[in-house]
Amino acid sequence: MRLILLGAPGAGKGTQAEIISKRLHIPTISTGNILREAIKNGTETGLRAKSFMDKGMLVPDDVIIGIVRERLAEPDCADGYILDGMPRTIPQAEALLEQGIEIDRVVSIEIADEVIEARMTGRRVCGTCGASYHIVANPPKTEGICNACGSELVIRKDDTPETVRHRLEVYHAETEALKGFYAKLGKLRLVEGNQPIEDATRDIMAALGGSE
Ligand code: AP5
Ligand code: MG
Repeated sequence: MRLILLGAPGAGKGTQAEIISKRLHIPTISTGNILREAIKNGTETGLRAKSFMDKGMLVPDDVIIGIVRERLAEPDCADGYILDGMPRTIPQAEALLEQGIEIDRVVSIEIADEVIEARMTGRRVCGTCGASYHIVANPPKTEGICNACGSELVIRKDDTPETVRHRLEVYHAETEALKGFYAKLGKLRLVEGNQPIEDATRDIMAALGGSE
């Protein structure tokens, strides 16, 4: 299964990708997590990406296309993967096609802008593995600590209300058009994002043609 998860910031892409990755035994490739790791490690890519990400702007297509091309060539992607947060522009989607990358399914997690802000103020992420939590909807087993790797949870730098608003504008201006792009290819399925996490997972699994 080669799956793309589309959706606005806060729609639940990272949360669902983590669950589905465990169920289907395929890796998640999250460009946001890869970029945050690059920033933490002070790499050249990280330095280039940081100013865009802090402002809630998209990182240039050439950077993203390069990162994803390299990552998908790794052996653990041979039997499938979940792309979380990529593509985010039509040129990124075209680059996947040009590279001969066959996508089986594109699921867009649908959610109204008004719901997003509340979600983002309650979000905590793992500073090491990038896992996403919510202080009310999806709390970690131990407060402030990642269930998966035991590291400290932090607030993402781009989760301030002002930056979230800008990220939403960017989503509507640049990314939402991908729904039409993949609908034309017959790959798109829509899933309601404003429902409990496990219900959204059930609907995504159904959209993949599998069951719970
Ligand atoms: P990225 O890290 O991908 O951020 P994003 O798309 O803005 O999405 P988020 O990670 O904020 O939200 P999510 O949908 O993963 O939601 P989550 O599951 O965490 O990208 C960050 C930046 O990197 C971009 O702004 C850009 O600068 C750059 N970038 C990345 N990829 C790029 C690309 N391809 N091209 C160019 N630039 C790129 O859930 C959110 C919260 O809600 C959590 O607290 C969670 O616990 C909670 N929650 C989840 N589901 C539910 C539910 N059903 N009910 C209640 N709460 C829920
Ligand atoms: Mg995410």
